[in-house]
Amino acid sequence: MAIIISGKELSLQKKEIMKQKVSTFEEKYGRLPKLSVILVGDNPASVSYVTGKGKACAEIGILNETIKLPESTTQEELLNVIEKLNKNVLVDGILVQLPLPKHIDSNSVINAIKPEKDVDGFHPQNVAALYLKQKGILPCTPRGIIQVLDSKNLPIQGKKAVVVGRSNIVGLPVAKMLLDRNATVVIAHSKTYNLPEVCREADILIAAVGRARMITADMVKDGAVVIDVGVNRDPETGKLCGDVDFENVKEKASYITKVPGGIGPMTISCLMENTIECYLEHVGGNK
Ligand code: GUN
Repeated sequence: MAIIISGKELSLQKKEIMKQKVSTFEEKYGRLPKLSVILVGDNPASVSYVTGKGKACAEIGILNETIKLPESTTQEELLNVIEKLNKNVLVDGILVQLPLPKHIDSNSVINAIKPEKDVDGFHPQNVAALYLKQKGILPCTPRGIIQVLDSKNLPIQGKKAVVVGRSNIVGLPVAKMLLDRNATVVIAHSKTYNLPEVCREADILIAAVGRARMITADMVKDGAVVIDVGVNRDPETGKLCGDVDFENVKEKASYITKVPGGIGPMTISCLMENTIECYLEHVGGNK
């Protein structure tokens, strides 16, 4: 039976530390950090994510505005909003909630965000910084995954890590971050030949595919560390569930994260960390 790593608990601890730190900022630097979130349209999942981000800001003492734009917003209108935020010296972080409506080109939007305010770490300059081991902003979910592993002092160096999923947001960057910690990394995906066998080799298995419970117990080595990044709706119950068949996999894994209460809250606390780090760069403070 695995030890369940609670991302929720860890994120609460992290947020408490951030709250203490932020409470000293106004006196030291004359203003508070500010995160601006842009939401285009009213996709229910996006609305819920954006609400969660606003709540976390309020808990920590980070100023937050959510700019809600209609689904019909043109790309030019959205780019104008971003340009204003880029120029606003009181805004430290800009986040455009994805996905965007189909008539808007996400790449153009991401590219328009000033890299120093790109708290998602999605701008090509920040992506390149990760790949070249230069200073930049790390994407939130991969950062949260590494923090979860470190919170239990789970060794990464020399371990075989299998990342299932190759998205720009999670799969690719987390693979690079694990490689930088000297893991031997395999990136698997929907076309991987004999996926169960590949997954069974993993000491650390990261599931980031977006398919409800596709990682079954037969795909997991005894004693593996299993991190579930999936956020899916159970096709039968409609409840939130991960990419991992938690009930069965927990019997084989040594450590496992849950959905909900696992990586999701870590993504938000890392977003808060990124916002504070951007702020400190802007005000010239020490980290
Ligand atoms: N949509 C789903 N995940 C994310 C994320 O991490 N950042 C943004 N901006 N949109 C998302």
